[in-house]
Formats: sequence, C-alpha cells, structure tokens
Amino acid sequence: MKGLVLSGGKGTRLRPITFTSAKQLLPIANKPVLFYCLEQLAAAGVTDVGIVVGETREEIRQAVGDGARFGIRATYIEQDRPGGLAHAVMVSEGFLKSDPFIMVLGDNLLRDGVTRPTNCQILLTRVKDPGQFGVVELRDGTVIRLVEKPKEFVTDLALVGVYLFDSNVFKAVKEIKPSFRGELEITDAIQWLVSNGYTVRPHLVTGWWKDTGKLSDILEANRMVLDGVEEALQGRVDERSRVEFKVSLAEDAVVENSVIRGPAAIGPGTRIENSYVGPFTSIAGGCTIRNVEVEHSIILEGCVIEGAGARIIDSLLGRSVSIRKGDGQPRAYHF
Ligand code: TTP
Repeated sequence: MKGLVLSGGKGTRLRPITFTSAKQLLPIANKPVLFYCLEQLAAAGVTDVGIVVGETREEIRQAVGDGARFGIRATYIEQDRPGGLAHAVMVSEGFLKSDPFIMVLGDNLLRDGVTRPTNCQILLTRVKDPGQFGVVELRDGTVIRLVEKPKEFVTDLALVGVYLFDSNVFKAVKEIKPSFRGELEITDAIQWLVSNGYTVRPHLVTGWWKDTGKLSDILEANRMVLDGVEEALQGRVDERSRVEFKVSLAEDAVVENSVIRGPAAIGPGTRIENSYVGPFTSIAGGCTIRNVEVEHSIILEGCVIEGAGARIIDSLLGRSVSIRKGDGQPRAYHF
C-alpha cells in the first residue's frame, strides 16, 4: 500500500503566514504538522509515500528530503495549481498506479495516527460545526450521501483528513466536474463511488482530530499536543528562574530570571531572559525572548522579542520576526 500526503494548496485561511511559508510546516509543539503525518504513515507500515506539492515545493522538499529520517521513501508530485483535493489525486495517478493508497491531508493532525485498514475507507468524526466540513450521511452504517460544507444541517459526521482508496478513485476524479469554487472536490469523488455502486466503508474515530487550516485551530492543536508533553529539561535554568509543570526545554536553551509555566516547549538554543512564558506556548529554536510575557502562542525559529511590559497572547509569529516595544504603558498584543 502507498501513501499520498497532500502538501500543496493555497492556505488562504492562514494568510499572511502562508504568503511566505507552507502551512504544513507550521510547528505544533515545535514539530511540523506534516512530520506527524509522515511518522504516522511509517508507523502504519506505509513507506512508499508520494507528497503532492505546489508553490511551496522547495520548502517542503528541504524539510522532508528523501524521507529516510521518517522511515519512508518520499516521491514529490507536482501539482501545477491548487485544483482541489480530487485534482491532487488525479495528478498522482502516475505514482500510485493501480496500488491501493492511504491519502492524508498534510495539515491535519490525528491523535491516534493512521491505522492500516483492509478496505476502502473514510474516517469520520463528530463535530460541533458541521457547516465547515465535508459531512457524510449514513444509513445502517452505510454511506449514502456526502455533502461539502452543508448550509443546512445534514449530519454531524465530518470527514477527517485520512482516506483509503483503491484505483477506482481515478475513474471518479475524471468523471466529476469542478465545484462552484472551481476545485475538484474529494467529497464529489467519493459520492461518485457511492452512486456508482462501489463500497465506501465508514470508520468512526474517537481520538481528537484537528484540521490546522486556521489560526485558532493551530493554537488549539498546539494546546492538545503540548498537553501530552513530557517534562524534559535539557537546557540551562539559572537559580533565579522557575520552570513549572510539563515544560520541554531543548538542549542549549537558556532560562534566566524568568518563569516558565507549562505545558510549554522551548526549542534548542533559545534564550529566555526576565520573562514569563505561560501555558500552551511553543517557542522554536534560536529565539531570544527578553522582558516580555508570552502565553498561548506559537513562535517560529529565530524570533527576537523584547519589550518592557509587553504581553503577547494567542499569537503565531513566523520565522525570524523581530518585535521590540519601547517604554510606555504595559499592553497585551495579538499577532
Ligand atoms: P485545504 O485546507 O482544504 O485547502 P488549502 O490548503 O488551499 O487552504 P485554504 O482553504 O485556507 O485556502 O487543503 C487541505 C490539504 O490539502 C492541505 O495540506 C493542502 C492540500 N491541498 C493540495 O495539496 N492541493 C490542492 O489543490 C488543495 C486544494 C489542497
């Protein structure tokens, strides 16, 4: 069985960060979402993995390389435009050939990972806001209808970003027409299979699942993953500092005269001075945090944040961002 990981797309909902970087590489607890997907595929015994890439191809290639360190063999598949999930399947036919495959959305995070099912399957989970998802109507455990982002309530069973197909899906993606948003929708392709007598087997997952397409979702995914973080203090903490409750402090990180209250992850070589780092914060490597409070945020590599009385909350800072606050009133900021 092969794996197909979708890492192209537009990422419009995560602008501006997706103007300059791939959303699949946004770190959750200091590890890119895409890496969780690749590790989970490897753990399920799927090692021959195609990665669909678009505009951010170079960045994805650099991060994943040949895939050896994840225990997979990566093949890059070019998608010339973000033509939809079913379009991504279409352009992968040459790689997939007639093999069955598991398809994973590269920006989705699934706690329990990918198991290796035996037949054509879609994974479903109950959601509070079904209007945001592709949903699936079942009758007696059988799939009867799929609706993409329903305007009126149909069911609360949403498709999560893992799909298992055999090569019949190529017939489907060639038959369907683009939707009103000009994309070939995977829900339409699966609907085509259902309508044409192919078996589509639903499987309900109960572990949490997060589509990291929006900022609030990324922060929530970061919370969920950090919640399971093991305390590990490899860096240096001076005697004026306090590091409390589930903090992962990587090698060469330095904490001086500061409080870090977990769950939190601090990357290698990062310096935290005269600061407070609050719960659910991931700070990547090579950052400097000085005289600030940071809470419930994700900060990527190489950022420098200094500010008297500044408090940064609910934020996502891209790579090498530099923020300085002069004197003046203490204030909370959201970036
Ligand atoms: P989506 O989040 O559905 O779409 P998007 O990435 O274009 O983002 P937005 O809706 O914010 O504009 O995509 C799910 C995953 O599939 C994501 O990892 C990107 C990938 N993808 C492709 O590889 N090719 C495509 O044509 C599309 C639409 C998405």
